[in-house]
Amino acid sequence: MKALSRSLRLYVGIVSLLGGSILLLAFSRLPTYDLGGYAFFVLLLILVEAATIRWQSPKGHGVSASSALTYAVLILYGPLPAGLVNAVRGFVGALYPERRPLHRIIFNTALLAIAGTAAGLSYLLVPGLLGYNARPLVFVAAVVASLTDYFVTAAGTVVAIALYRSSPALKVWGEHFDWLPIQYPLLAVLGTIIALGYGEFGLLSLALFSSPLFVARYIFKSYIDKVRRQVELLREANIALDMANQDLIETLAAVIDARDVFTYGHSTQVTDYALAIAKEMGLPEEEREMIRKAGLLHDIGKVGISERILVKKDAITQDERHILEQHPALGEEILGRVKDMKELAEIVGSHHERYDGKGYPYGRKGEEIPLAGRILGVADALDAMLSDRPYRPAMNLLQALVEIQRNAGTQFDPYVVEALLRVAEKADADFFKNSARTIEIAPVQQAGDHPRATFFRPKSVTVASHK
Ligand SMILES: [Fe+2]
Repeated sequence: MKALSRSLRLYVGIVSLLGGSILLLAFSRLPTYDLGGYAFFVLLLILVEAATIRWQSPKGHGVSASSALTYAVLILYGPLPAGLVNAVRGFVGALYPERRPLHRIIFNTALLAIAGTAAGLSYLLVPGLLGYNARPLVFVAAVVASLTDYFVTAAGTVVAIALYRSSPALKVWGEHFDWLPIQYPLLAVLGTIIALGYGEFGLLSLALFSSPLFVARYIFKSYIDKVRRQVELLREANIALDMANQDLIETLAAVIDARDVFTYGHSTQVTDYALAIAKEMGLPEEEREMIRKAGLLHDIGKVGISERILVKKDAITQDERHILEQHPALGEEILGRVKDMKELAEIVGSHHERYDGKGYPYGRKGEEIPLAGRILGVADALDAMLSDRPYRPAMNLLQALVEIQRNAGTQFDPYVVEALLRVAEKADADFFKNSARTIEIAPVQQAGDHPRATFFRPKSVTVASHK
């Protein structure tokens, strides 16, 4: 598993400390005037949470029906008791149905303690709400509280994911959360009905109002099982489609490399290095897959550059350099036209950016450059240094690593360079290759003006999976 970065550990520490303080305070301020009722709410909440009655948003964010009980508690007992029951919800949710690692259990519990208390405070902030007399306002305040709960929980989670993946928080939010989830206000209305019922009729009403939750759980379960089976079928179809796509991308990589006889095998080799670095950095499978595709296609923009410039043996002129430097933007434009390839296009467009902002085509710097682009930049430079070029021989591995390390913090992201050095320590001797020598001269099939495809063929164009 990926080691947690210092900033992520600091963040988890702060959230845990704040959540822990809230819980200590909540334990010292238990609603002693109705301890039995409060305990019953906690028990019921554990049962509902363990029964995993959830609404899943299309983006995969689930909301537990037990939130309704948190909202009932905040109406009846106030912010701190709500923080405590919400923490119990987070704790049970992190244990069941699937046990999370200890730091996740602590983080979930603490974050939900904060969210529950914040929701309780926002409920009190809604003006004019001092009792149960203004009933419509109780509903409005509960809805406000539920949205506070959602935004605090979502924001807290987004920051953790963004720090874990070194991705912009807004992007993570867009991927995982909706801007206005309808489930929360609905659960707030249910929570308000439970609270009002309890205020009027006591425990009996609690049993009465919460029983539909359990009935709903069994109805939903059969529905969810059916959906799961369909999802499984779709997943299998997707795998088959993915495999076809992979073959297509690898063929395309071979076509790209074939345009330039001096860099045959470059794309596959860059992909191997980038994947090894990404794995060393602990990037999730999904991001590594994106890096694999981007590695294979990173020079696709070269299809728009004249062969005269690409295969030129002599030093290129200023104008030719300017044309050559268009290839990342050209690649981004080509891939950007394909639906669902926007992220891939952005990575391809950024593989010649520099960490200090002096790269091309956009001059982006630091974290403005996608992490995958920063990784590809290092992998691309490494393969170029390790491979023969018409105008210079290859460096050996040590020389190349010293050169890359010398440019850490200026040309390259220092964290990516650190990961590469760790890869180099662990890798087998034959992992680093002179990709220019992975080609051999094949018999000439026919004479022609184009010296490349008929003269050269790769010894191997396999991509190590590094899974
Ligand atoms: Fe390139």
